[in-house]
Amino acid sequence: MQERILMCEPNFFEVSYVINPWMKGNIAHADRALAQRQWSRLAASLGKVAAVERMTGVDGVPDMVFTANAGVVLGRKCVLSRFRHVERQAEEPHFARWFEEHGFEVLRLPEDVPFEGAGDALLDRALPLLWLGHGHRSDAACAPLLQDWLDIDVEPLRLVDDRFYHLDTCFCPLEGGYLMYCPAAFDAPSRARITARVPAALRIPVDEADAAAFACNAVNIGKDVFLNHASPELATSLRAHGFRVHLTPLGEFMKAGGAAKCLTLRLTEVAGAQVAVKAA
Ligand code: ARG
Repeated sequence: MQERILMCEPNFFEVSYVINPWMKGNIAHADRALAQRQWSRLAASLGKVAAVERMTGVDGVPDMVFTANAGVVLGRKCVLSRFRHVERQAEEPHFARWFEEHGFEVLRLPEDVPFEGAGDALLDRALPLLWLGHGHRSDAACAPLLQDWLDIDVEPLRLVDDRFYHLDTCFCPLEGGYLMYCPAAFDAPSRARITARVPAALRIPVDEADAAAFACNAVNIGKDVFLNHASPELATSLRAHGFRVHLTPLGEFMKAGGAAKCLTLRLTEVAGAQVAVKAA
């Protein structure tokens, strides 16, 4: 099956407010022409392994380029984001319209339950499980609703470091059940829940230096992994587990607190169990 990925053109991308630590000191400092080149290079690389669907940006919502935060998709369902910060809330109707026009059933959480889509809700690639980051942007109160609506087990994980404010900044489930993640970004009970679910042989720990360069903010399609940066040690470890590592610099987007994964939303999502059933 051809995987499909949604990206939003950076035609209105800039840093115009501060809602995460990466944006501090960067207001009006993003170079849009360079951002466009970095984005196009990522889109072209992804285009070799997946179909990239592009939507155009909207004036006044510069972070709309981070389509990971549009919602979380499973099958034909999409649970739309409810952004915590007013600065991003105006993106919601644009994303809702896109999903509706492309045949998704759009589900909306109660207004008082913040949820930031596939920035915080990541499907495991082996287990029928949705990992949910909370503590900064998404509220743990969305867990039972996601579980019910998407008919999938939800494992909440508490994020404790401001720099890693979305789950996809510090945690990346990979094909085959591997998990690349930065343990220091989670509280102790969450770290224990991760190790209880994912055997040591499948865990690829990432140190804070790599995580701060957005190494965990990776797009994984099959054996290909696309990311802003990986130290030689991390790249070696990924290769040892059979992955091909593609470095694609995204420095302009890091000024807004995002990199490869944040700039994409996988539209072809099935739960681990369904994959197993299909393969049988
Ligand atoms: N400036 C954006 C924000 O703070 C960046 C979002 C990055 N997206 C992500 N999935 N981590 O919301």
